[in-house]
Amino acid sequence: MNVVFLGPPGAGKGTYASRLQERFGLLHISTGDLVREEIKNKTEIGKKIKPLYDEGKLVPDEVVFDLLKKRLSRGDCKNGFILDGFPRNLNQAKELEKITNIDIVINIVVPKNLVIEKLSGRRICSKCGAIYNIHEIRIGDKVLPTLKPKVDGICDKCGGKLYQREDDKPEVIEKRLKEYKKQTEPLIDYYKKKGLLKDVDGVGTVDEVLGRITRILNIKL
Ligand code: AP5
Ligand code: MG
Repeated sequence: MNVVFLGPPGAGKGTYASRLQERFGLLHISTGDLVREEIKNKTEIGKKIKPLYDEGKLVPDEVVFDLLKKRLSRGDCKNGFILDGFPRNLNQAKELEKITNIDIVINIVVPKNLVIEKLSGRRICSKCGAIYNIHEIRIGDKVLPTLKPKVDGICDKCGGKLYQREDDKPEVIEKRLKEYKKQTEPLIDYYKKKGLLKDVDGVGTVDEVLGRITRILNIKL
């Protein structure tokens, strides 16, 4: 089964996809992670795209598409994949159709105030990529179970150091949200018309939202 996750920055795409990878044997592919890897390794591509990334802008379609194709060709996604962060515009959606089929598109729906709260508190493990949050996230009167690491700045799973993403600064978060609205949101209608889209309420605990997504994927399996 090939799945696409849609949703604004901070919706939880990476959080849920990484947990679903184990449950369904689907490979979690985050184009944001592929982009960050190039930047971290200071490759030619990485040097070219860093200024765009730092400003919260999309990097050129052909660059991301090449990174994605390379990742797909490794041959470890025989059971299918979850695409997190791709496609991000109409052109990418059409290019994707030329190389693979998509069975379902999960659109994670989260209000803007909640994504800003989530993004500003996000911390990531520099070794294994596990995602944490140092904020106490509230929905109305309800406080969500904490996603804080047990020891400040250290990953619970592997002991790696936690860091904050360059693009999680408040001024860049605003730009990323605008970019999402302009370029990516139109894909909701595009996939709705194709009959592939399923909206999922992304407000709730990690387990609640995962339960909602799992029910939809189980029906498809
Ligand atoms: P990318 O890495 O894809 O960033 P994004 O789409 O902005 O999404 P995020 O990773 O910020 O959010 P998420 O939905 O994964 O949330 P998360 O699970 O971490 O892209 C970054 C950049 O790369 C782009 O700006 C662009 O430059 C480039 N790029 C990537 N793909 C591209 C493409 N296709 N084309 C062109 N350019 C591309 O969760 C957020 C926080 O909330 C975490 O702290 C988490 O712990 C917490 N959280 C999640 N769920 C819950 C919950 N239920 N309760 C409490 N806390 C929660
Ligand atoms: Mg992510």
